[in-house]
Amino acid sequence: MVKLVNRIVTVSRTPVFFGKEVFPAFDRLVKSMRPSGIFILVDSNTREKCLPVLMRKTAALATAQVMEVTGGEAAKSLACAEKLWNDLLQAGAGRSSLVINLGGGVISDLGGFVAAGYNRGIKYINIPTSLMGQADAAIGGKTAVNLGNIKNQVGFFHSAAAIFIFPEFLKTLPGEHLRSGFAEIIKSILVSDGSLWRRLQKRPVSLMMSQSVESATWQDLILAAITFKNKVVVKDYREVKLRKVLNFGHTFGHAFESAMMNSKGPILHGEAVAAGMICAAWLSHLKTGLSRADLDAITKYIDEGYSRVHVDPASFSMLMEIMMHDKKMKGGQLQFTLLSKPGLPVTGVLCSREEIREAIDFYNTTLSG
Ligand SMILES: NC(=O)c1ccc[n+]([C@@H]2O[C@H](COP(=O)([O-])OP(=O)(O)OC[C@H]3O[C@@H](n4cnc5c(N)ncnc54)[C@H](O)[C@@H]3O)[C@@H](O)[C@H]2O)c1
Repeated sequence: MVKLVNRIVTVSRTPVFFGKEVFPAFDRLVKSMRPSGIFILVDSNTREKCLPVLMRKTAALATAQVMEVTGGEAAKSLACAEKLWNDLLQAGAGRSSLVINLGGGVISDLGGFVAAGYNRGIKYINIPTSLMGQADAAIGGKTAVNLGNIKNQVGFFHSAAAIFIFPEFLKTLPGEHLRSGFAEIIKSILVSDGSLWRRLQKRPVSLMMSQSVESATWQDLILAAITFKNKVVVKDYREVKLRKVLNFGHTFGHAFESAMMNSKGPILHGEAVAAGMICAAWLSHLKTGLSRADLDAITKYIDEGYSRVHVDPASFSMLMEIMMHDKKMKGGQLQFTLLSKPGLPVTGVLCSREEIREAIDFYNTTLSG
């Protein structure tokens, strides 16, 4: 059930609080949990920009200890998780300790993973501070670290005790990360709401980037993404079927992101997803009846907001190998989430190697005009 009271959303599995007034509810919840110790996980940026705000606005964290990791995708590693497990052990953390993840998707994925493994699972709360985190990553109980350059290869389903979304944190988020997070909002709209997609096209990414994150348009879009993700996760927590709709653009996106992770020019998750959505839109045109006009509209909208990623055609075999690790195989073929039209996703569409190559060729050669 989704209940909306003063823009606070609650769902049955994990309550999600959204808005300027989330912290009194946070204090009440933490107090009621009676944790034996509280550990706040931050990266260097969220320590500087968000932790002071959190400490000012809450009372329940006065005795909490802070654990800091160097930010960025590299922190989503087993080595980093092991270091945090050791830190928890040294600090005497036990079954009733509480982890607070204060940061973007890297911190919620890593901190959730650490909480899931420590003492076979301790409680944690997500306070997402990036757009990617607020609109997507902090919600849904998927936690993971990367294995080598394979994204999210090792992870657990382990739900947060609650999620507190304080939109003001976005005011200090660097522009490139706001743009990256916006790709997940585009995805969420493309797979959920055709009429919102038509309205979004009147608001190009560059226009959105120039508007205050506190504007009603921004708040409505973030809330729409949160509400949609909640709805999906409540119905299909373990991604048996429905949750796969959230993977639109991600099989390609993860492959691009993984392929470039160790290169000189790593790309942000959202940039990779934006590129992946153009490839998936092409496959949708080929396989599931997405019209040429819709394909062109999606390509044009994404091109206006995101630079094209350089996908080297010579790296196709490596990309295929990475995609085959992406857990979406059936009978030796890759399965994709595609669209029959905006708002109408189709999951589990089998695509051949040649079709996948065509999609990447489309991305590399067809610039929207
Ligand atoms: N678990 C899921 O369901 C899920 C869904 C989508 C994405 N993800 C994961 O999320 C990760 C990407 O998340 P991200 O884009 O938030 O990356 P991130 O956590 O690295 O944050 C982006 C950057 O912004 C900084 N930052 C965050 N909040 C800030 C703030 N308020 N002010 C100033 N700086 C701030 C961080 O320090 C970092 O440098 C990827 O690893 C991706 O796989 C997970």
